[in-house]
Amino acid sequence: MTEIAIYGAGGFGREANLIVQQLIKKGYPYHFLGFFDDEDKSVELGKLYLGNTEKLNNWKTPISVALAIGNGKTRKKVVSRITNPRVEFSKVVSPYAIFNDIINIGKGSIVCAGANLTTNIEVGEFVVVNLNATIGHDCQLGDFSSVMPGANLAGDVKLKECAFVGSGANVLNGIEMAENSVLGAGGVLTKNLEVNKTAIGVPAKIIEK
Ligand SMILES: CC(C)(COP(=O)(O)OP(=O)(O)OC[C@H]1O[C@@H](n2cnc3c(N)ncnc32)[C@H](O)[C@@H]1OP(=O)(O)O)[C@@H](O)C(=O)NCCC(=O)NCCS
Repeated sequence: MTEIAIYGAGGFGREANLIVQQLIKKGYPYHFLGFFDDEDKSVELGKLYLGNTEKLNNWKTPISVALAIGNGKTRKKVVSRITNPRVEFSKVVSPYAIFNDIINIGKGSIVCAGANLTTNIEVGEFVVVNLNATIGHDCQLGDFSSVMPGANLAGDVKLKECAFVGSGANVLNGIEMAENSVLGAGGVLTKNLEVNKTAIGVPAKIIEK
């Protein structure tokens, strides 16, 4: 039996818990312990609030942790602060996601219900593929990248580390989004996006931040 906890007790944490509970119902050997969060959630969660990062770093037994944080840059910071060798980052893949081919998914990644992934796709570590996102052929999702609900990556799209595709956005064929770049919700990205740039709109244009 694997002891599993979720880091991040917000809305996305509750959604990750739904996946964990669905996996348990389907026979996965998980025992769900509760949530870690740096914000004290003991009032809302009672015994299901396990504590902050320090508590996790002092955890005495092997523990599997799913990282339910929507923003890749924040996920990366949190991972760098978790130093306990007993922590293993689990991938949490909804039984209601659609895999049309064998797809390797890196540790710490979350794939939500309705996500639809086709063929020759690489999903790195600590990636989030959120509800109903579609990922077309030959896409590469770099570590800590995020594809938000209902977003669509056409074929051969590359998301570099921490790239973020907002809800309902579309990235056209062959486009590359560089490290830390952001496509705003609903945008249509028709050209490569450079490091740290944010683009919005249809077609998406860079906004200065
Ligand atoms: C693009 C984004 C990152 C910009 O965030 P921000 O820097 O905080 O920008 P602001 O909210 O200050 O907005 C700046 C301007 O851009 C506009 N804007 C913001 N996001 C926009 C979007 N996605 N499409 C079109 N216009 C947008 C705002 O209306 C505002 O316009 P104004 O100056 O005329 O009032 C953000 O709005 C976004 O789309 N995030 C993705 C959210 C998402 O998908 N979350 C998933 C949750 S599961």
